[in-house]
Amino acid sequence: MGENPLPADGGRRLVGTRRLLVAGALGVLGTATALAASVPAGAAAGTLGAAAAQSGRYYGAAIAAGHMNDSTYVATWDREFNAVTPENEMKWDATEPSRGSFRFTSADQIVSHAQSKGMKIRGHTLVWHNQLPSWVGGLSASDLRSAMTNHINNVMGHYKGKIYAWDVVNEAFADGGAVGTLRSSVFTQKLGNGFIEEAFRAARAADPNAKLCYNDYNIDDANANKTRGVYNMIKDFKARGVPIDCVGLQSHLSSGSVPSNYQQNIAQFAALGVDVQITELDIGGSGSAQADAYRRVTQACTAVPRCTGITVWGITDKYSWRSGDTPLLFDGNFNKKQAYTAVLDALNAATPNTSPSPTTSPNTSPSPTTSPNTSPSPNTSPSPTPPVGGACSATIETTNSWPGGFQSTVTVRAGSSAVNGWTVKWTWPSGQSISSLWNGTQSGSGSSVTVSNASYNGSIAAGSSTTFGFTANGSAATPTATCTSP
Ligand code: G3I
Repeated sequence: MGENPLPADGGRRLVGTRRLLVAGALGVLGTATALAASVPAGAAAGTLGAAAAQSGRYYGAAIAAGHMNDSTYVATWDREFNAVTPENEMKWDATEPSRGSFRFTSADQIVSHAQSKGMKIRGHTLVWHNQLPSWVGGLSASDLRSAMTNHINNVMGHYKGKIYAWDVVNEAFADGGAVGTLRSSVFTQKLGNGFIEEAFRAARAADPNAKLCYNDYNIDDANANKTRGVYNMIKDFKARGVPIDCVGLQSHLSSGSVPSNYQQNIAQFAALGVDVQITELDIGGSGSAQADAYRRVTQACTAVPRCTGITVWGITDKYSWRSGDTPLLFDGNFNKKQAYTAVLDALNAATPNTSPSPTTSPNTSPSPTTSPNTSPSPNTSPSPTPPVGGACSATIETTNSWPGGFQSTVTVRAGSSAVNGWTVKWTWPSGQSISSLWNGTQSGSGSSVTVSNASYNGSIAAGSSTTFGFTANGSAATPTATCTSP
């Protein structure tokens, strides 16, 4: 790939170098750890996390619970990083090895350690074709849909309030093919391409305060087909009010393969109104070539206000998933590599990040635009009327349809008071019938439908909302629904 297109900024580099010298001297005096907590104005930080924090960013590492008995590993994590992503412990095979049986021991180990150190925690990952327990492959479409929603609800529910950002869907796009082509997986085969949207909607309902990310590799080049596909999906989601807050660029790279338009790529995603996070950075190589590549990636992030943080996919080369490429910032003996210094220098040289980084707030103003093949269609625009008093309202939206059937999402919104338990009713106009329903409990039959909350989503804060969904037989319909709360 080409050389770094970023404008040379000798001034910043000089400042960064001076800061490093100061940091080095302070480190000798044994105060580097203290600097991690707060860095005096004008001084350089001596650790990655503290340096990133100066511009309002985080610097994280993927951590494996299985290595937490290595004291140097944990000490390096604690000293250098202010964020973490569990490397494997939150994946579907780890958290729900058999259907409905959830296991969080290893992930909890990482989460509680991170919390005790005040670190940000990225959740990785909820819906991914890989590291999927075998029982998922045998499900029917309606079973898979409810299993996916149930998995999201339980895992996000377990960590509710503790996770900064979730990789809701991971690696759904294909590596080849036309723009917008999804990878064939159990999810596309049984649920269709709309599974991504369904997952994001369920995720928003499960933890409204976590940022919701789409995460993928090989979306680092601004013009690659795969990148364009993800870009179009996010643009469409934002236009239609499908909840999404961030895109994760995994960035598994090698020294020669950092795209020349990497910064432009970050900027184009940010311009869609989402945060950009570099989520799994590792760069194969060594010496100055590797250091230069790391510097370019770091500078590309710090140059874009909505690039909010970087996570490297491991701490030491010896535990890396691609160990033979020596792709990380610390060697096998936890010595800082040249790449480490380049990153620290670049982080220290960044100007403070003043960009607003709004937390999640479901967008309820859809305005359909182009429909890449990841979006269910047709889409009808809900226009929820805010209820008054303690009442609730419900709006039915068609999110997918096919000959003889359709799929809908129902948004249940609380008024100016919190709701504790809700019941939504409507009447089908022409013989429709629900075939599968999730995030709610159906009673009755025939043309009059009654759906009450599930055990986990009955409480809705004032002004907030939750959703349930269903697939149905018949032609798509969006009857007026009423909502009552006891
Ligand atoms: O824990 C078992 C161990 O008990 C067993 O003896 C051993 C035998 O192979 O396997 C161990 O599990 C391995 C696990 O890592 C923990 O080390 C799995 O085989 C191995 O497949 C798994 O690899 C992980 C890989 O995802 C799986 O796809 C890597 O650690 C992890 O770094 C990697 O991370 C992914 C991201 O989640 C998504 N993006 C790409 C990235 C790199 O592949």
